[in-house]
Amino acid sequence: MKTFLTLIIVCLFVDCFGNYCYWNTGCPYKYLSSDTPYNLVRGDIRDSVVKLKDCEPVSIWGIYKHGKRYPDEHTGKAMVDAISFRKDILSSYDKGRSSLCAQDMENLRNWQFDDKIFGDKRDVTDEGRNEMMFLGKRLREAFPDILNGINKSTSTFRSSKGMWLENSIKEFVRGLGNKNVVIDPPKTDYDYIAPYLNCEKTFESNPEVFVEINKYLNTSDYLVVKDRIHRRTGMDYVLTDDNVTALYNLCRYTWSGIDGKASPWCALFTKDDLQVLEYEGDLRTYYENGYGSRFNEIFGGMPLADLWSNFYRARNGGDKKMVGYVTHGRSLEQIYTALGLFKDVIPLSAGKRDPDRNWRSSVMSAFGGNFVAVLNKCTISNVEDHNIVFYMNEEPIRSICEDGVCSWQEFEYKLKPFVNTNFDFCQFI
Ligand SMILES: *[C@@H]1O[C@H](CO)[C@@H](O)[C@H](O)[C@H]1NC(C)=O
Ligand SMILES: *[C@@H]1O[C@H](CO)[C@@H](O)[C@H](O)[C@H]1NC(C)=O
Ligand SMILES: *[C@@H]1O[C@H](CO)[C@@H](O)[C@H](O)[C@H]1NC(C)=O
Repeated sequence: MKTFLTLIIVCLFVDCFGNYCYWNTGCPYKYLSSDTPYNLVRGDIRDSVVKLKDCEPVSIWGIYKHGKRYPDEHTGKAMVDAISFRKDILSSYDKGRSSLCAQDMENLRNWQFDDKIFGDKRDVTDEGRNEMMFLGKRLREAFPDILNGINKSTSTFRSSKGMWLENSIKEFVRGLGNKNVVIDPPKTDYDYIAPYLNCEKTFESNPEVFVEINKYLNTSDYLVVKDRIHRRTGMDYVLTDDNVTALYNLCRYTWSGIDGKASPWCALFTKDDLQVLEYEGDLRTYYENGYGSRFNEIFGGMPLADLWSNFYRARNGGDKKMVGYVTHGRSLEQIYTALGLFKDVIPLSAGKRDPDRNWRSSVMSAFGGNFVAVLNKCTISNVEDHNIVFYMNEEPIRSICEDGVCSWQEFEYKLKPFVNTNFDFCQFI
């Protein structure tokens, strides 16, 4: 009780005097849109696996976003330019024009430039490798019978094309710790794990995608962030939207999810600022990869058709016990859209940021984020039956069927229609 009171008093104090320090906030705001480290949002399949009486898991199908990657060339370059703001920020602090905290400024001063991050390596980072490897290892511990028994004919592993994707699946499979499996090479043409890549004009020719984002950058919700950065840092330079994005990327990409260390660059932002920037990311993904554009549910249906046919065959004695794909975050968001998950009654818009919205890219497409389905075979009074449990980031998805367990009939009703998905629409847009 006493600590609780102290906490209230501290909070009041912080509120009244605006004396917010990042280094000791205790719980820094960790939802960083699609660049969130997996460890900040994941569950643990070893604890959360749904064990059903008289049932045993017989097949696992999963699709995983690649682990944390290095920023692409354009993003990396803007971040390197933005590092030059550090000089202004520190000198403004030294002149007493800043309301940032001493320790935060010391941490920023001591922050080391690491040119590995900014060199457009098109690869996963060491942290990203760890994310994928330990994810594989936890799965092995949760489903030892399946994962110790598989070999190259009873499993399929493949990623989309790109070094960061190919290295992610290597690490994932390494974590599974089974030497008898192989990783197929990425497909060079159409692949249902990232079907939108074969219909690129859907996005290029879809200006709708940018309408809400551009509006949002002109709302008071967003403008307040810029204003607050100016006031708190005392910087003279008038920040552009690109500059804010670059500083935010410095905060996100130099945040370590492995040892849980936030970056000193994040000290430039208050929790409110980070929530606004998160929403900017959510608006973008909602219109690019989600309910904001009508093509996404079609694309999301394509990998789900593969899930359906794998489990259909497995149920009828087929031999695939484990299927794992590594792909882009966009595919995962399209899958959730096709399933009608995380849908908001009121579409996301520039005009209203709902703090309780369902669409959350921080969770849906964090680095290493994943959607996994497990087929169980049950024998109840000598009658054989199958059911399916869905997991997202190692937690059961309870909203999909009652208690998170779908009967075979429910699974069929939800997934079978995707088998008829095709690309015909692509040529008409
Ligand atoms: C700020 O953004 C503008 C473009 O919006 C860019 O030209 C400029 O280089 C950026 N400044 C820094 C220091 O990154
Ligand atoms: C893979 O395992 C299955 C059953 O577990 C077995 O029947 C098959 O012969 C194995 N195949 C290879 C290539 O080892
Ligand atoms: C931003 O808002 C201002 C004032 O409300 C308006 O004059 C301006 O045209 C808007 N700009 C854009 C790009 O919407």
